[in-house]
Order: sequence, then C-alpha cells, then structure tokens
Amino acid sequence: SANAYLEKERTLAIVKPDGVSGNYTSSIRKIILESGFSIQREFTVHLDEDGVRRFYAEHSTKSFFPSLTKYMTSGPVLIMILQKVNAVADWRALIGPTDARKAKMTHPNSIRAMCGEDLERNCVHGSDSVESAAREISFFFKEAFPEGTTLEHDEL
Ligand code: PPS
Repeated sequence: SANAYLEKERTLAIVKPDGVSGNYTSSIRKIILESGFSIQREFTVHLDEDGVRRFYAEHSTKSFFPSLTKYMTSGPVLIMILQKVNAVADWRALIGPTDARKAKMTHPNSIRAMCGEDLERNCVHGSDSVESAAREISFFFKEAFPEGTTLEHDEL
C-alpha cells in the first residue's frame, strides 16, 4: 500500500586481519555493494588487547579467547557499518558459517569460503542480532549515532 515501508537495519561488519593482509577488502566491498548494502561509515584500526576484550566481552571467559585476541590484534581490521532492509540476517547469510572450513564445504559462494581458513581465522565478522548490531556499532561509532538516532525508511 501507499503507506507501507520496510525499515532499514544497520549491522556491523569487520574485515579481520587475514582479510585485510590478504587483500580481500576490495572484493568484499564489491560483494557488499552488489548485494544492495550501502556502506555508511568505515575506518581501519589496529585493535589492542583491551579493545578486543571489550568488543568480544561475552567470549572473554572462553578457552579460545587468548588465541582469538592474538589473532584479532595481529594486524589492522576494517570496520564498516552496512545498511539495508534486513541487513543483520542478510550479512550473516553472505558471510556463511562461523567455521570457514565448514563454509568451504556447505556454502562455497560465501565470503568466509573465499577468504577464511577455520573457526578462528574466519576473515569477517557480522553482528548476530539487531541488539548486538546496536551495541557493536556504538562501540566503534559512539559519536556518530547517539542514542535515539533514527533511520530513513524505504517506501514501497
Ligand atoms: S559461541 O561460543 O558459540 O558463542 O561462539 P561463536 O558464536 O561460534 O563464535 C564467536 C566468535 O569467537 C570465534 N571463535 C573462536 N576463535 C578461536 N577459536 C575457537 N575455537 C573459536 N570459536 C569461536 C569465532 O570466530 C567468532 O568470531 P566472530 O567475529 O563473531 O565471527
């Protein structure tokens, strides 16, 4: 109907150190844009241990955390805010399963199949829910999107 609209979502994408050092950022950016996302903001940062601990707070007590920290601090990462209708789920679908070995077998066209290696070195990150996306975006872009910022709508 004339008044129907779909609300756009934002999600947080990270190209991890192996993706950046392996020169995958331009192919990943191309896939993002061809899949209908807009890239609202992006910057490159070399995270330190404290940054990784705060970003992955929910995993900080897990056995793999020291290894994940070493990996995520091993080089610069590219942080991006992606926007489109259904951005959170659609970005997760594009990147494929967390374990890049599994991605290569079951989702050969996924981004992790293209540039990931395993459960740790999985090339890219995507927020796992709308709530996580909000938290992760404000983690990296505090000043850009203060509490209560609203999105534009797409009219049908
Ligand atoms: S969990 O435990 O189910 O919540 O974990 P999961 O969602 O599968 O993964 C969360 C992030 O932790 C990374 N991860 C690992 N790193 C190293 N070693 C092991 N064993 C491991 N398991 C999970 C995984 O790559 C996820 O990173 P993101 O950035 O979310 O993709």
